[in-house]
Amino acid sequence: MKERLDLHNLPRHIAVIMDGNGRWAKKQGAARVFGHKNAILAVRETTESCAELGIQHLTLYAFSTENWNRPRAEVNALMELLVSTIRKEISTLQDNNVRLNHIGNLHDLPTGCQHQLNEAMAETKKNTGLTLTLALSYSGRWEILEAAKKLMQAARDGVLAPEALTPALFEQQLTTHDMPDPELLIRTSGEMRISNFLLWQLAYTELYISEVLWPDFRKEHLYEAIYSYQQRERRFGKTSEQINLSKQG
Ligand code: IPE
Ligand code: IPE
Ligand code: MG
Repeated sequence: MKERLDLHNLPRHIAVIMDGNGRWAKKQGAARVFGHKNAILAVRETTESCAELGIQHLTLYAFSTENWNRPRAEVNALMELLVSTIRKEISTLQDNNVRLNHIGNLHDLPTGCQHQLNEAMAETKKNTGLTLTLALSYSGRWEILEAAKKLMQAARDGVLAPEALTPALFEQQLTTHDMPDPELLIRTSGEMRISNFLLWQLAYTELYISEVLWPDFRKEHLYEAIYSYQQRERRFGKTSEQINLSKQG
């Protein structure tokens, strides 16, 4: 499958809603946390293959604002897993020239997680390959609201007139201000929804739903998703004829 990919038409930014850990565990007759533990290999495979392909940005939805409403024991287990995984994976990130980044409300996370995350981001900040962004305690509505608050403050301070606000200025307030919008969004486990992920950024993203449960997701599945993306015509509201004309010109 990798050989079929057009290396000149790769997405610059792939976003993934990693879903299905609980169902994967249930299928084995195990507790949900077992699914989360077995999700790490899928994260490693996806990160490695994006790095190998030369993709610039991979953003993984690891924990949503709404996920705080899960049973306390599951939330705690997820947070502990996060800390231990980041610690263990740092050397793999370095080997693959990956820079770690975070979006979401960092202050919601337990202090141990915050430290581990900050440390890993500092240690990998000079890496020049893939930027791996973990969305943790993130939601699209939270992010848009935070941006709106900052802009309202700027208006109140007299540094920005409401009529001067443009999409580009708005985007600068988002946590993703230094990345392009994702060209491709992958969601595993067959669910057909966005679940409060990058609401602004996904406006024109190509969606790919995989039936595979996240712990089973491997490099081949990623290649399949990219291949599917490469067969699409992205029209951005225009007609097919317009797109073909601009390709020729
Ligand atoms: C995704 O798997 C992981 C997180 C949301 C943290 P789920 O835990 O949502 O698994 P399902 O959807 O219950 O199978
Ligand atoms: C979305 O998965 C959030 C993450 C993958 C982190 P959920 O499993 O929480 O989504 P819903 O609740 O099924 O929409
Ligand atoms: Mg789920």
